[in-house]
Amino acid sequence: MSNNNIKRKCRALMEEFILDNTQLLEINRRFLNELNRGLCKKTHDQADVKCFVTYVQDLPTGEEIGRYMALDLGGTNFRVLLVTLKAHHEADIESKTYAISQEIMTGPGVDLFDHIAECLAVFMKEQDLIDEHLHLGFTFSFPCKQVGLTKGYLIRWTKGFNCPGVENEDVVQLLREAIKRRGDINISVVAILNDTTGTLMSCAHRNKNCHIGTIIGTGCNACYLERVENVELFDSPPGKPYVIVNAEMGAFGESGALDFVRTEYDRIIDRNSMNPGKQIYEKMISGMYMGEIVRLVLLKAIEQKILLPKGGKQIKNLAKPESFETRFVSEIEADNEGEYTNCKKILTDFGFSKPTNEDCAEVRYICECVSQRAAHLVACSQATMINKIDEGHTTVGVDGTVYRLHPRFNEYMEEKMKELVNPNIGFNLMLSEDGSGRGAALVAATVTD
Ligand code: BGC
Repeated sequence: MSNNNIKRKCRALMEEFILDNTQLLEINRRFLNELNRGLCKKTHDQADVKCFVTYVQDLPTGEEIGRYMALDLGGTNFRVLLVTLKAHHEADIESKTYAISQEIMTGPGVDLFDHIAECLAVFMKEQDLIDEHLHLGFTFSFPCKQVGLTKGYLIRWTKGFNCPGVENEDVVQLLREAIKRRGDINISVVAILNDTTGTLMSCAHRNKNCHIGTIIGTGCNACYLERVENVELFDSPPGKPYVIVNAEMGAFGESGALDFVRTEYDRIIDRNSMNPGKQIYEKMISGMYMGEIVRLVLLKAIEQKILLPKGGKQIKNLAKPESFETRFVSEIEADNEGEYTNCKKILTDFGFSKPTNEDCAEVRYICECVSQRAAHLVACSQATMINKIDEGHTTVGVDGTVYRLHPRFNEYMEEKMKELVNPNIGFNLMLSEDGSGRGAALVAATVTD
């Protein structure tokens, strides 16, 4: 096939990934509708986007002080942290990452919480904190229905976790019981929070305009500051006009709102996942799935003889589910224009001998279409939230491995947001510094003050 022909066929294959503004505006409209359904008493139970109340109503002033422990479960790594808030918007953080094996991710819930408590105890011993009584903020990044700052019932596992015995249970209680079973540490769990809330709080610690917290990592979600009169399921104490709402927007699309833009690859990913039918928006965006979408497209392109030779060991390697990691997408797009150093290395590691520049150009194009679609889909929800908050200027705190590691995700997202946010509203994206740690400490600090 001639180079031009290859290019033409690859463009045609990827066409369905390119969403135009008419489609994106329709997604905006549907997303806003879902947000409102989540907030309303009458429609909440049926809504895809649940808009859970976080019970966090005070943003940090920057003058918080004190030492807090934090746990961060639900991202790429599990971490234990010691956070020292030092006023003047400053904080020191000591942290350690611990592995969570596949076995623990899908084994009994008790084992997961025992493991967490053990890591906490090991960390406290190492930091010489074993004799201290500290307050802990638990960043637990899964959909939870909270009934207070220290009570959160897990609605469902996401992101490959599937431990029996935890859904519908209060995870704070499970953590407290595990700590009690050990009996060697003196910790009070004073708050449970989502990583998006942590991100919002940690950015608001430095920038008071930050009213949205967004994660584009293994999973995808956002929270925002909503006026209490719009949150029908929340009975706010007097004098507190706002509450942070955890949208749990990864579930958007479960009732079919995104079917008009989903591709066959999205459907395959969903079918083969641990949670079919769930987290539809998340599956089109987040790091847990992005590499897998690219892998499926590559297989299709090879099958249609659009690129790379057919047959042989390399195809067997690529045919292995999850063999094409999301970080490869970032690495391929990080190659300088016209150079394909990372791309060639990745393809050669798969067993493709001597990939040509032409092949690499198409592989890169496929990656760009997939990551750009993800960024544009995120831009829709972000713009919708900014327009809904409707302030002169909103800062969006953002974190997550995809956002951090992909060389152009921020640019793709911001460009599209400029087209979707109402022209009279200003916005900026702010990279969060350790939201899950600092944010957890800040939430803990608001409780204990
Ligand atoms: C979870 C959210 C979380 C997001 C980002 C999703 O799978 O449901 O609670 O905020 O991942 O970590």
